[in-house]
Amino acid sequence: MDDPHYLSGLQLAGRRVVMVGGGTVAQRRLPRLVRAGARVELVSPHTSPSVSGMADAGEIVWHQRRYAEGDLADAWYALACTDDPEVNAAVCAEAERSRVFCVRADEGESGSAVTPASGRHGGLLFGVLSGGEPLRSAAVRDSVLDALHAGTVADGRAPRREEAELPGVALVGGGPGDPDLITVRGRRLLSRADVVVVDRLAPRELLDELAPEVEIVDAAKIPYGRAASQDVINRTLIEKAKAGKFVVRLKGGDPYVFGRGFEEVLACAEAGVPVTMVPGITSAFAVPAVADVPVTHRGVAHEVVVVSGHVAPGDDRSLVDWSLLARMRGTIVLMMGVERLPQFAKALLEGGRPAETPVAVVEDGTMRTQRVLRSTLAKVADDAAAAGVRPPAVIVIGPVAGLAHESE
Ligand SMILES: C[S@@+](CC[C@H](N)C(=O)[O-])C[C@H]1O[C@@H](n2cnc3c(N)ncnc32)[C@H](O)[C@@H]1O
Repeated sequence: MDDPHYLSGLQLAGRRVVMVGGGTVAQRRLPRLVRAGARVELVSPHTSPSVSGMADAGEIVWHQRRYAEGDLADAWYALACTDDPEVNAAVCAEAERSRVFCVRADEGESGSAVTPASGRHGGLLFGVLSGGEPLRSAAVRDSVLDALHAGTVADGRAPRREEAELPGVALVGGGPGDPDLITVRGRRLLSRADVVVVDRLAPRELLDELAPEVEIVDAAKIPYGRAASQDVINRTLIEKAKAGKFVVRLKGGDPYVFGRGFEEVLACAEAGVPVTMVPGITSAFAVPAVADVPVTHRGVAHEVVVVSGHVAPGDDRSLVDWSLLARMRGTIVLMMGVERLPQFAKALLEGGRPAETPVAVVEDGTMRTQRVLRSTLAKVADDAAAAGVRPPAVIVIGPVAGLAHESE
């Protein structure tokens, strides 16, 4: 058959989607399914840190076990993504009997549905199918995306590998999470990567746009959870670059704002690997902004300090003078501060910051799951606990945090 597929847009919002297998295919496919609002249930004994992070964040439900007949009951759509062909075949067979469309990752033509190479640009979502040539689909998709980004018209056939080879490592700030908030340069370099080393807080949806042959290395640093050590990450960047690959190190926000980016630059420099630095939009300022909190405002705040909450006040490793911060009148932007919020609030109150100082806590900023909590310095620890606030969140302390509230 010349044209074995019919391209359709599925309305998955609120509908049960079952994914069997939690490896790299899951890592690539899940963000788009979640963004579409699907009720995704993952069946897999193991998974990668970024996929388990999605389960921890409540974005998907993870059944930590092997697939069993009956798992597709009431599903609208299924994806068989294990590395065991027998399991994938069994999932597809159940799907066939239950009349559920099913994608089979290891043997596309055996499934009843295939995933197109998809691209997203300014509210436009498009897919490309080529009847079993995924590299061609990805190349056409990349060309269309490049042309959309450049504002030109694509011919749809230009192979992405004709681009001049890029050297070394690009350290790319991915912005606060919404895939539209990466820079044009960051996105362009990402589309040319051979290897992408990605953090948990980087815009994960962009991974779905990568060609199948692009290697994705998960450097997930889930707060207070599993951590790939910085040494391993540095070594990976250097080894891949020295093997002639163009490596994009995709990080959340800006690489140099509590992102350990400069450690990676130093390690690459020492190893003689060239680095291109692409700044990103930091969550320190962007996340408050999308929640209508300006970090400065004329006549209200003439100073803004971005502080790490990685260690508690009084901890030997702390480099922060909390008594000095307490005497400030302007804005404190506290990052990584959810876990120890009661200690930070107490230190500021004891240092003289007024109890009524407005505080805004913005969780999952720029994401579909964004939540904003407004409180005061005296009450914020209790209010955040009551609301079940979880990382990642940016905490803004100061009069600016009360501005939007007043205007509402
Ligand atoms: C290790 S720091 C990395 C910051 C990053 N380099 C940047 O410039 O945004 C992680 C912290 O950034 C903040 N953060 C990052 N993305 C966020 C988001 N989408 N919503 C809320 N906070 C976020 C949280 O405070 C989180 O604990």
